[in-house]
Amino acid sequence: MDSTAEFYLEPAPADLHGTEGKALRAAGPVATVALPGGVVAKAVTTRDGGALVMGDPRFSKDIRHWGAHTRGEIPADWPLLFIIEGKGLLTTDGETHRRLRLPIQRALSPRRVQALRPRIEAIADRLLADLASVPAGEETDLHNRFALPLPLEVICSLLGVPEDGTLRKELRELSAAAMNSGAGVEEVQNTVAHRFPETLMSLIEQKRARGDQDDLTMELVTAMDEGELTEAEVIGNLVVTVIGGHETTANLICHAVRGLLTYPRTLETARARLAAGEDPWPDIVEEALRWESPSRNIMFRYATEDVDVEGEVIRKGEAVLVPLSAIQRCPHAFPDPDPEIFAPDRPNASRHIAFGVGPHRCPGASLARLEAEIALHRLFETFPEPALSPEPAPRVPSLGINGYRELPVVLR
Ligand code: HEM
Repeated sequence: MDSTAEFYLEPAPADLHGTEGKALRAAGPVATVALPGGVVAKAVTTRDGGALVMGDPRFSKDIRHWGAHTRGEIPADWPLLFIIEGKGLLTTDGETHRRLRLPIQRALSPRRVQALRPRIEAIADRLLADLASVPAGEETDLHNRFALPLPLEVICSLLGVPEDGTLRKELRELSAAAMNSGAGVEEVQNTVAHRFPETLMSLIEQKRARGDQDDLTMELVTAMDEGELTEAEVIGNLVVTVIGGHETTANLICHAVRGLLTYPRTLETARARLAAGEDPWPDIVEEALRWESPSRNIMFRYATEDVDVEGEVIRKGEAVLVPLSAIQRCPHAFPDPDPEIFAPDRPNASRHIAFGVGPHRCPGASLARLEAEIALHRLFETFPEPALSPEPAPRVPSLGINGYRELPVVLR
């Protein structure tokens, strides 16, 4: 670890909140952290500091503003480099970013998202019908059999990925491989630089051959044919949308289920609200987004000048990350009740910044909320008394994602 770093961010910390979250906040408001490979960055550890970094144009997404990178200090084979230097929405600013974002924002408009409701409900019901065949009392994996396939099918249907063939499965495997921060350089390079773009190009060719229209992939292809987007930009956008479109939502659903089953009073309150004709799911989803941010760290932004953040100066050229999972349990921002507790009735849960802030704020936020609300509603209607396995759910080894490899439950 670099001698200036106060903390080492591990891909798979033994205790994400107990050790890492507390240590980061104690080192804040701006901590110097080391990432795998010894690369050093600043971590902003307060809610308002995180919101400032994500929303302020003095912090750029363009890697050319990273001093250590332009000075040649970041090894060319640093595995995370392949993710943060790719061409696309998450690595551009200003007008270029707006141009790239427009087709995705249009496809995810509130009207088009609401129109997806019946399709999401049908997918949820089909997956739950399948789970009904699990023998009573037997453990099953809610992550891989429900929480993950639900948003994966929704995003694949938005993108017009054919249901037949192997493309849906391949896209899932590529997303998991791209998000694995414990992977070696060859694996990441092969996934991000070769296999992912090749698979997406083959999707585009298949869709052109079938004469497909009216889906997000073909909207991006049309923009490319009309000279508005380059091929690399279309592929970059598809990668972000495939990964962002299912991995995080799956984890949101699992976090909410784990919250409700770990704090049974919250499930009782939800049932009482349902009986009184109220809809409890939006509050539960907001609190799950705060309690276990589906994005663990937002990486990177680069200071384009010296900027004061919460009384500390981030120097021009420094790389900054926002550790959302630590920030959202900050006792100053979420004082009462204790931020470690899952409490859907807390007064200010919606001050969370789990979907980001500013021009890059998640365009899929309303889709993710709708999917999670439908998933929870249908799950607890079908299986009113599920129970968590006593073993803690294993987390994914990822600096970017806060989620589980599996969520073992007994459905009753
Ligand atoms: C619970 C679910 C989700 C969470 C927590 C989440 C979180 C985020 C966050 C924090 C960002 C901003 C990153 C930054 O500022 O660097 C982001 C961006 C993005 N998300 Fe999501 N997301 C979710 C679901 C989705 C869904 C369902 C989609 C697509 C259908 C999606 C597509 C995107 C895209 C395309 C961007 C890049 C936007 C840009 O750079 O302008 N996300 N997401």
